[in-house]
Amino acid sequence: MKILVSGSSGLLGKRIIRNLHKSGKDVVGISRRAGPFTSSLIDLSVNSYKIFNLLNLFNPSAVIHCAAMTHVDACENNKREAYTTNVKATQAIAEWCIDNHARLVYISSDYVYPGNDNGYDESSPVGPVNFYAQTKLGGEIAVKQVPHHLILRPVVIFGYDKNSQNYFMQMLSLRDIPKPREVPYDQISNPTEVGLLARSTISALEQGLEGVYVATGPESMNRLTFSQMIADKIGFSRELLFGMSTHDLMKKYPGMAPRPLNNGTNSSKFYHDLGIIPPTVALSLDEVIASIE
Ligand SMILES: NC(=O)c1ccc[n+]([C@@H]2O[C@H](COP(=O)([O-])OP(=O)(O)OC[C@H]3O[C@@H](n4cnc5c(N)ncnc54)[C@H](OP(=O)(O)O)[C@@H]3O)[C@@H](O)[C@H]2O)c1
Repeated sequence: MKILVSGSSGLLGKRIIRNLHKSGKDVVGISRRAGPFTSSLIDLSVNSYKIFNLLNLFNPSAVIHCAAMTHVDACENNKREAYTTNVKATQAIAEWCIDNHARLVYISSDYVYPGNDNGYDESSPVGPVNFYAQTKLGGEIAVKQVPHHLILRPVVIFGYDKNSQNYFMQMLSLRDIPKPREVPYDQISNPTEVGLLARSTISALEQGLEGVYVATGPESMNRLTFSQMIADKIGFSRELLFGMSTHDLMKKYPGMAPRPLNNGTNSSKFYHDLGIIPPTVALSLDEVIASIE
């Protein structure tokens, strides 16, 4: 099976390609930024023909589509770019997969849920509260047209990667340059370690899982608790972290997109179907910290 991974310069895409390379799989990476895991450069927001041409060139039997405009506030303020990158490009990839009988794995987000009831699972109704989430749902709608599709909904993907601005790396920077940091205490979600998500995504593809899965980490917690856990483990003072409500943060920072608040999820179906016991967030953090160079 030849696998094409989009977003090969990003946190998740890079990790998936690294794992596939290690196990000797036939894999190519495409992205906007050059790097060790990128075979071809492309700006997915430009036009569908470039996407079709590139897919025709590599002719994969499976695509793992990780690329997206992921900065939630930037999406709110640059809706056109967010739409072309996250929806139009996904539509083009889905169209190519339909025409070429390829499987499509799409990395969506648990932000598709409205955040008013923790414990969301695959049967819960969606209801995006910001534009980023709308675009991820738009991508899902396109992907569902592909006969063999898999949609994974993770959240707060974290891990050690010098070129990433993911939440763990933002916290790590406080260890090196201590400064006060405001953290929402009312956003509940299930932090998802990138290594776990990469392994699970590959295993899901290999096992032929299809449909929609909540693919978050196993524990729900608010962002302040997660931040304090990281502070304790990497060794900076909890005193640097100031809990604030999302409402107050949005008042202080105009342009900040709304966030789903009570967005805890139940990912047990995903790990049950995969036959994986996911590690706790504390254990995942220990693993991430051990990988710091
Ligand atoms: N990060 C999270 O907490 C989170 C949570 C839930 C779901 N997700 C979803 O998970 C997936 C992977 O996220 P991640 O954390 O790995 O994100 P990331 O580190 O921000 O990587 C995103 C990747 O997409 C590429 N990309 C963005 N715009 C592009 C464009 N116009 N053309 C071509 N490539 C483009 C980026 O390239 P450049 O390097 O050139 O920017 C990068 O390779 C995304 O689909 C995201 O929506 C993420």
